[in-house]
Amino acid sequence: MSEPGLLGVGSYRPARIVPNSEIVDAIDSTDEWIQQRSGIRERRIAGPDESVVSMGTAAARTAVERAGLDPQQVDCVIVATVSHPLATPSAAARIAFELGTDQAAAFDVSAACAGFCHGVAVAADLVRGGSARHVVVIGVEKLSDITDPHDRGTAFIFADGAGAVVVGPTESAGIGPVVWGSDGEQYDLIRSIGPGEPTLTMQGREVFRWASYSMAKVALQALDRAGVGLDELDLFVPHQANNRITDAMARAMSLPDTVRIARDIVDAGNTSAASIPLALDRMIADGDARPGDRALLVAFGAGLSYAAQVVTLP
Ligand SMILES: CC(C)(COP(=O)(O)OP(=O)(O)OC[C@H]1O[C@@H](n2cnc3c(N)ncnc32)[C@H](O)[C@@H]1OP(=O)(O)O)[C@@H](O)C(=O)NCCC(=O)NCCS
Repeated sequence: MSEPGLLGVGSYRPARIVPNSEIVDAIDSTDEWIQQRSGIRERRIAGPDESVVSMGTAAARTAVERAGLDPQQVDCVIVATVSHPLATPSAAARIAFELGTDQAAAFDVSAACAGFCHGVAVAADLVRGGSARHVVVIGVEKLSDITDPHDRGTAFIFADGAGAVVVGPTESAGIGPVVWGSDGEQYDLIRSIGPGEPTLTMQGREVFRWASYSMAKVALQALDRAGVGLDELDLFVPHQANNRITDAMARAMSLPDTVRIARDIVDAGNTSAASIPLALDRMIADGDARPGDRALLVAFGAGLSYAAQVVTLP
């Protein structure tokens, strides 16, 4: 039995930047409205040569390099996504191949915006239980493929990108117990019929209310289960759904001013399963996060599904 922790973090941002001014006409909106209601100024939108597989592979490659590993040492790949264009085979099997693993176990997780934290929880248990030694967990989305650019409730929110971590044995435990669950009574609030079709719909006001009030409790439970006090926390990295949801959660948790809060959504949009590892990698790159920092992750989305855990940064 080995204690699991994060060994490396990586991400991939599509090249094309799309400011609010480019999308407002199609939804009869304004840059000011979008910034006020969501915090989003611009987002990255993938081009035809940037796919779930290519973006996920790029993020994973960086995470594996930063973990100081050879891809052949990766024995499991977990991909959290809702926008891989094939129902089967999985994006993970292709990414495991492109990455250069030695036929690693590979599977996708469907837990929408909560998928990455589900993947980290599963990976930690795989390492703890001895089923795998080095697991790559990837959150990747090309939501522009499934979002209708004329839908006022979603077109300005959703975007594309990928983030990844390597989970493996460490000297001290780096991943706290997960607090997770689902509320199938609210099954229809966010849904998409299938890959490749722009059918994503969201009842934004209901999702907003649920996330703002319920997720703060889940986040506090994750801290409690990890035995970490609010005053010992360095970073708060919630799913980048909407800056107003982040603000409401921080208030409800009475988060101290000393805790640095991820705000990647401002120029990345809401990238669903990719948003937490993208935000984490950004904070590391900007010097807002340092090795040994304790970060509270909380993810929530369609299902409705949620998962939260405290991780120590590599
Ligand atoms: C989408 C969201 C920003 C909308 O904000 P909101 O304050 O709930 O907006 P509402 O839908 O209640 O609409 C408020 C007003 O803005 C208008 N409006 C709606 N969409 C608009 C748009 N894109 N541009 C301009 N005005 C818009 C509405 O017509 C309404 O006008 P009215 O007051 O005159 O009737 C918000 O609901 C949200 O962020 N929800 C959660 C998103 C989320 O986290 N999703 C991912 C979960 S994983």
